[in-house]
Amino acid sequence: MNLKGLGTSNLLMQEAARLLLKGGLVAFPTETVYGLGADAENPFAVSTIYNVKNRPADHPVIIHIADSKDVLFWARSTPEYAHALMRDYWPGPMTLILSRSPNAKSFITGGQDSVGLRVPNHPIALGLILEFQKQGGHGLAAPSANRYGAVSPTTKAAVELELREYLAPTDLILEGGLSQVGIESTIIDCTGSSPIILRPGAISAEMIEISTGIVVTEPPEQRLRVSGSHKRHYSPKARVLIDKDALFGEGFIALSDVPTPFGAIRLCEPKTIEDYARELYVSLRKADELELKVVRIVQPLGDGLAIALRDRIARSAAKG
Ligand code: TXA
Ligand code: MG
Repeated sequence: MNLKGLGTSNLLMQEAARLLLKGGLVAFPTETVYGLGADAENPFAVSTIYNVKNRPADHPVIIHIADSKDVLFWARSTPEYAHALMRDYWPGPMTLILSRSPNAKSFITGGQDSVGLRVPNHPIALGLILEFQKQGGHGLAAPSANRYGAVSPTTKAAVELELREYLAPTDLILEGGLSQVGIESTIIDCTGSSPIILRPGAISAEMIEISTGIVVTEPPEQRLRVSGSHKRHYSPKARVLIDKDALFGEGFIALSDVPTPFGAIRLCEPKTIEDYARELYVSLRKADELELKVVRIVQPLGDGLAIALRDRIARSAAKG
């Protein structure tokens, strides 16, 4: 991807990095979803993220770094299998939970003894982190750039709509096109003797097994352990129902081979599971723009990314 084509010049990157070092916030694109970034060593900046997101203060945030060489600034140690994962899937849609070093303070880790780290695979995210490091920073704390419980944004316009009113006028939102994965990273707990998936994503259990030689299982659907796993999450204003029988005037989301029920408003018709992931959050946002009251979603079948999609769909449909 060409940075200039996205209207993000080196000068803008330098300005964004300077702003971050002064404690400002910069929302930036990643291949999963857009993140709301702050200097991971600045407690005031990180607390501003919590205010902007209206997020409970004890939830840990992921630190975004540019390279696996940066891991040992934030983590105390890394098991052998975590090295294999870093080698095979970074930069990419994978967050590793590792034992924290003293540099990862409790305002980042939510008081836990571990820290979440990710190298995103997006030229603007990587360019921003590198410029930030060049100016003296070490990593960007960045949760998804949405209000707590809402749908994660996958375009700059969605971040504007979601957060602009809560940001300072000087805070920046960088353009980076549509996030190509479209749902959040796989979170893998690497603090024990073998990896455990805490949140499913594009890096599947099978991929982890291929990389590490260790057999892992996807988390039982509906029973995950991280905050994104609180029951209701990723939710639009419209009521989400997991059902194929959409009524007249209701929104409808399904793979392209599922016909649209008569009178329903088709929000997307992805041909593949990858397209489905890329289009799900865009479609849920579209439902709200159209002020739809109900969206019916037909879940995709299968393993890997389909498991992650069913996880997000189930949560967006959860009641409480
Ligand atoms: O794809 C992604 O992961 C995106 C992009 C922006 O990188 N980020 C993202 O962040 O989804 P967030 O904060 O919305 O979700 C991160 C999840 C949270 O549920 C948090 O509880 C969990 O990661 N997490 C972070 N650090 C953790 C830790 N030390 N132990 C357990 N869970 C952790
Ligand atoms: Mg989130």
